[in-house]
Amino acid sequence: MLKATLLKATEAGGKILQQYFNGPFEVSSKSTLNDLVTEVDKKSEAAIISTIHEAFPDHFILSEEVGEIRKNSEVKWIIDPIDGTVNFANGIPLCCVSIGVEKDGEMVLGAVYNPFMNELFIAEKGKGATLNDKPIKVSSNTNIARSCLVTGFAYKWEDSVNSPLAVFERVIKQGLPIRRLGSAAIDLCWVACGRFDGFYEHALHAWDAAAGYLIVEEAGGKVTDFNGGKYSPYQQTILATNGHIHEPLANLVNGK
Ligand code: IPD
Ligand code: CA
Ligand code: CA
Repeated sequence: MLKATLLKATEAGGKILQQYFNGPFEVSSKSTLNDLVTEVDKKSEAAIISTIHEAFPDHFILSEEVGEIRKNSEVKWIIDPIDGTVNFANGIPLCCVSIGVEKDGEMVLGAVYNPFMNELFIAEKGKGATLNDKPIKVSSNTNIARSCLVTGFAYKWEDSVNSPLAVFERVIKQGLPIRRLGSAAIDLCWVACGRFDGFYEHALHAWDAAAGYLIVEEAGGKVTDFNGGKYSPYQQTILATNGHIHEPLANLVNGK
């Protein structure tokens, strides 16, 4: 029932993205001028939440635009109604709906759906990950020097040791191919299905990675924070790889 509702909610959100793609729709700014929210984010979110609440009126919701809808429940739905909003607002079809389901503090289900590529990624704790119903696996590449990487940048620049620019500089100075797609959830799924060997980002929110990190783990990959500690979507840093290049990528990120 949880999984069926997850699929229904993901599809409901995805339909809205398709319906409004290329506009017109209203766009406004949030934390910075270019941290955008469109009316489509809100429509997608409303469709997702009403689908969940129809089946489970008492479940806890954490969703990017409305925040927390607190219920006394062991199940929490963590929703990004459009991951890749800047792409969406510019008519770039690299964006998705991302929903993670946490039970008793553990992520048990995740779904990421990019309706423009017709790609639906699903993971169920202990049962593997799929892309359009076919099992997926991370890449088998063991050589960081031959890796294809992906990263993302937050809307707000924060200078620090091992800042996004410092790490990016180290990566490109090594001649490593690195991409920036603009959707952390898609970045994670593309690690999970072997298109990328590794992904790192400095400052994500729970809704960006809740589904994607489970999808990477269930596809055989490794996900930690920058220190190599157990990953929690409630802290900011993320390092997700095929497992083989985890340590060398962590060293690059941490300047070691
Ligand atoms: C953003 C995307 C992007 C990442 C940002 C996120 P949004 O989410 O995932 O790839 O670099 O850090 O905030 O705003 O499109 O939902
Ligand atoms: Ca997001
Ligand atoms: Ca979003």
